[in-house]
Amino acid sequence: MRLLLFGGNGQVGRALQSGETLADELIVATRRECDLTDAESVRRLVRRVRPNVIVNAAAYTAVDKAESDRDSCFAVNAAAPAAMASEAAALGARLVHYSTDYVFDGMKTTPYAEEDATGPRNVYGASKLEGEQGIAEAGGEFVVLRTSWVYGNHGTNFLKTMLRLRSERPELRIVADQRGAPTSADAIAEATREILKQARKGDWRSGMYHMTAGGATTWYGFAKAIFERAGEPAPSVIAINTAEYPTPAARPMNSVLSNEKFAAYFGFRLPEWEQQLDAVMAVRAAVS
Ligand SMILES: NC(=O)c1ccc[n+]([C@@H]2O[C@H](COP(=O)([O-])OP(=O)(O)OC[C@H]3O[C@@H](n4cnc5c(N)ncnc54)[C@H](OP(=O)(O)O)[C@@H]3O)[C@@H](O)[C@H]2O)c1
Repeated sequence: MRLLLFGGNGQVGRALQSGETLADELIVATRRECDLTDAESVRRLVRRVRPNVIVNAAAYTAVDKAESDRDSCFAVNAAAPAAMASEAAALGARLVHYSTDYVFDGMKTTPYAEEDATGPRNVYGASKLEGEQGIAEAGGEFVVLRTSWVYGNHGTNFLKTMLRLRSERPELRIVADQRGAPTSADAIAEATREILKQARKGDWRSGMYHMTAGGATTWYGFAKAIFERAGEPAPSVIAINTAEYPTPAARPMNSVLSNEKFAAYFGFRLPEWEQQLDAVMAVRAAVS
């Protein structure tokens, strides 16, 4: 099996390259090999590599910056995945793509299911939604995995920001009214590996799936859990409302996704968010 991975330097992209081998033949594309703002260059690369599977872990993920950089965001998150999907369809290859909780408006009070109405509140969410639609319309075989609040020991994320800030500030004010499931890049990679294993055994179900850590918390709860595990120095954490922390991009209040369809189709679930955090912190402790 020849697998073409886009986004090789991202959180999920890096996690996919560590641990058990992903494919017999793995071709990794970073920004250097292929600029995703150029859909033609995406098409050329796919035609040249002729993969059996494409995994797209690349995305324009700077949610606030996207508000004033709409064209680049849509090029990377909408046009590029659509180009991957149509090239994959032409080759008879499969596409695994990641999407986001930010396709929803966050006003629902219970976890979002795959068939719930979308309503992105920001440019990033709108671009990811258009990416999902482009993939579905290409007519090939695909799995889109909507995940949330991604973090890990590499890249830019909430965990790393908290670990940096704890030695800089005695007190941190963290948003306590947005709910979601922090999901580690390692857990996403592990689950993707399992999906690809099932595919090799002939088990493939094209479609859209929610795939996040089990359970839910707030950014405040996540910060507290990080500091409980990180030891000294532990700043005091003050709970604030979204309105007290204005950002260029609006965020959904409820980002919790239901993983029931994923569990029913693939026969497993990602671990609870606290367990995933324990695992990430253990890796961090082992290397520091
Ligand atoms: N991060 C989250 O909280 C979150 C939440 C829900 C869903 N997701 C989704 O999960 C997936 C993986 O996210 P992640 O957190 O692993 O993302 P990430 O760490 O931000 O990595 C994204 C990768 O995409 C690459 N990229 C961006 N623009 C590019 C361009 N024009 N050409 C080529 N490469 C480009 C980046 O390259 P450089 O390294 O060169 O910048 C980076 O390596 C994405 O689909 C994302 O939308 C993420």
